[in-house]
Amino acid sequence: MLSYFDNAATSFPKPQCVVEAMVSYQENCGASPGRGAYAEATDATNVLDKCRSELCELIHAPLDTHCIFTLNCTDALNLAINGIASHFQDEEVHIVTTAMDHNSVLRPLHALQKTGVTHTVVQACKETGLVNPSDIAEAITPCTKLVAIAHGSNVTGTVQNVAEIGRTCQDIPLLVDAAQTIGHTPIDMQAMNIAMLAFPGHKGLLGPLGTGGLIIRSGIEHILEPHRFGGTGSASEFPVQPSELPDKYESGSHNMIGIYGLAASLQWIKEQGVLTLHKHEMNLCSAFIEGIRRVSGVNIVGPQTIENRCGVFSLRFEEQPHIVAKRLEDISGIKSRAGLHCAPFAHQTMGSDTLGGTVRVSFGPFHTLEDVQYIVEAIKKCALPQLAVT
Ligand SMILES: Cc1ncc(COP(=O)(O)O)c(C=O)c1O
Repeated sequence: MLSYFDNAATSFPKPQCVVEAMVSYQENCGASPGRGAYAEATDATNVLDKCRSELCELIHAPLDTHCIFTLNCTDALNLAINGIASHFQDEEVHIVTTAMDHNSVLRPLHALQKTGVTHTVVQACKETGLVNPSDIAEAITPCTKLVAIAHGSNVTGTVQNVAEIGRTCQDIPLLVDAAQTIGHTPIDMQAMNIAMLAFPGHKGLLGPLGTGGLIIRSGIEHILEPHRFGGTGSASEFPVQPSELPDKYESGSHNMIGIYGLAASLQWIKEQGVLTLHKHEMNLCSAFIEGIRRVSGVNIVGPQTIENRCGVFSLRFEEQPHIVAKRLEDISGIKSRAGLHCAPFAHQTMGSDTLGGTVRVSFGPFHTLEDVQYIVEAIKKCALPQLAVT
C-alpha cells in the first residue's frame, strides 16, 4: 500500500530508472557540461541537451535552446516576473494574476510593489476555483506587461482553461505556472498561446528535488532580463553576460545529478504517454470523489467532478486540518498536508482560510484504486459528523 499522498508537494516514489540514472552519473561520470572537452563532460552536455529537447517535445514548445534550467519552479517564476518587470522599468508596469495562484507568484508581485510595479488579482469562482477568462480580459490595462496564471491549483486541483485565457491575452505575454499539471495533463505551449511556462522537475515530471525550469517562446528573450550573472563556460573573455540562449539565463554549474534523474523520468513519462497517465489520474480522482461522497464529516473543497481538475484534493473537516492530518498519519500512516499550502487567496476564495486551511491529499502515477479505497477508509475513521458550512 502506498501511503504517501503529498505528490502536490513533491512526487514519491520516483520511477526506479531515476534513481539508477542519478547513481550512475555520480559513479561513472560526475562531470560538468560545457566546461570541458573530455568524454565525461561531453556526455553530461549531451544529457543536458537531450533533457531540454524532451521537455520541449512534451509541451510542444518551439525551440530547445529556449528551455532554461532553474533551481525549482519558484526560481523560474521569479525569473519570468522579475525579468519582465526589469526590462520595462522605465515604463509603467502592471501585471495580472489570479486568486488561485501560489505565493511563488504572489510574493514576487508583492515585493515588486516597492519599485512601482502594480498588479491585479483576478477573483475565481468560490465553488470551483475557476477563473473566468473574460475577467482576465477586464483586468488587462494598456500598461499590462504580463499575465501570470497557475494552470492547476495546488489547493483545489482546479485546472484553468489556459487555451481560452491564452486567446484572451493575445499579444500580452502569458506566463503559466504548470507546477501541478506538467507530466500528467496535456499541455501545448503553441496552441495555448503560452509565452513562458514555469515547471518543477520534481512533481509530475517525477524527477528529483532541485530541478525545474522556464521554457520561453522565441522572442521573449528580448524582453526578459536575466536575474543572475556569472560563468557560463562560453564567451569567457567578455565581462558581459552572453546574449545566446540558454547561457543568458543559466549562470554557474548545473545540478547535473538532478538533470540525469530528470532526463530518465522524462523518458519514463514518454514511454507511458501523458494521455495514459492522465487517464489513470482521472480514474483515481473519480474513485476518490465517489468514495468521499459516502463519508460524513468531510467534504471536498473545489471541483466536485473530474471536469477541470487534476489529482489534488482539499478536504474540509469539522476540526482543524492539522489535527486531522496527524490523526490520519497516526491511525493509517497516511502522509497528507494540512494548512494553507502557500496559496492564501485560494483558501480565502473557497472560504477555507477561517478553519486554518484544509487537509490536502494528492495522487501520483504509482497510486492504485486499492490505495484510493485505503485512504477513503482512513478518512472515514478520522472524520467527525459533517460541519454545516455556509
Ligand atoms: C502551483 C504551484 N506553483 C509553484 C510551486 C513552487 O514549486 P517549487 O517547489 O518547485 O519551487 C508550487 C509548489 O508547491 C505549486 O504548487
